[in-house]
Amino acid sequence: MKSFYSNLLDNNKRWVQERIDLNPEFFEELSKGQKPPVLWIGCADSRVPANEIIGAKPGEVFVHRNIANLVVHTDMNMLSVLDYAVNVLKVRHVIVCGHYGCGGVFAAMGNTSVGIIDNWLRHIKDVYRHHAKELENIADKSARFDRFVELNVEEQVQDLAQTSIVQAAWANGQELGIHGWVYGLRDGIIKDLETNLYNNEDLEQVFRLKFDTE
Ligand code: CO
Repeated sequence: MKSFYSNLLDNNKRWVQERIDLNPEFFEELSKGQKPPVLWIGCADSRVPANEIIGAKPGEVFVHRNIANLVVHTDMNMLSVLDYAVNVLKVRHVIVCGHYGCGGVFAAMGNTSVGIIDNWLRHIKDVYRHHAKELENIADKSARFDRFVELNVEEQVQDLAQTSIVQAAWANGQELGIHGWVYGLRDGIIKDLETNLYNNEDLEQVFRLKFDTE
C-alpha cells in the first residue's frame, strides 16, 4: 500500500484535470492575478483549512495561519501579510478565525512547558490575565476552555484594529471590516462572535492613532 505522501502528486494531477474539466480556462484565468476580498488569519491546525470550510475557491482568500491565530505586533510575517492584503490587494474584510479545541489555547491555560512555543503561547496568557475573572467564574472546565478560545479571538481582532496598517487604511477612507469567528471541530459550524470593527471610533481612546494627512 502506498503511503499518504506518495499519493500526493498523483492527487494533484487528478485535481488539475478535474478543474480543467469544469473550466478549461481555470488556471489561465488565475495566473493573471489575484483580487481576494478576504484576508483570513487562522490557526495552523490541520483540521481548519481556510478555503474549504467556507466554500471559497482559489483566488478568493488571502491566508495567514499560525499557532492559535495570533496577531502579535512584532510579528513581521503577520505584518507583511496584513500590509500586502490591505494596501496592495485592498481586501474588504479581515477574519480572525479561531477554533474550539485549539491545542495552543489549551496549552496556554496550563503550566506544562512545551518547548520554544511557550514564548509564543505566552501572548495567550495575557488574554487570560485580562479576562481571568470571567474565566475563573466558569466552573466547567470545557466551557471555560471554549470561552477562552472565543476571548482569544476577540483580543486578536482588537490587536488587528490597533495596528498602524488597519488604522491608516481607515484614516484613508478605505472600506475594511475586522471580524472574529470560531470554528467548531465537532460540527464544522462557524460561530460569528460579532466583534466587528469598521473604524477608529470602535477602539478605546488610547489606541487611536492620528495620521498627518497634509
Ligand atoms: Co488551534
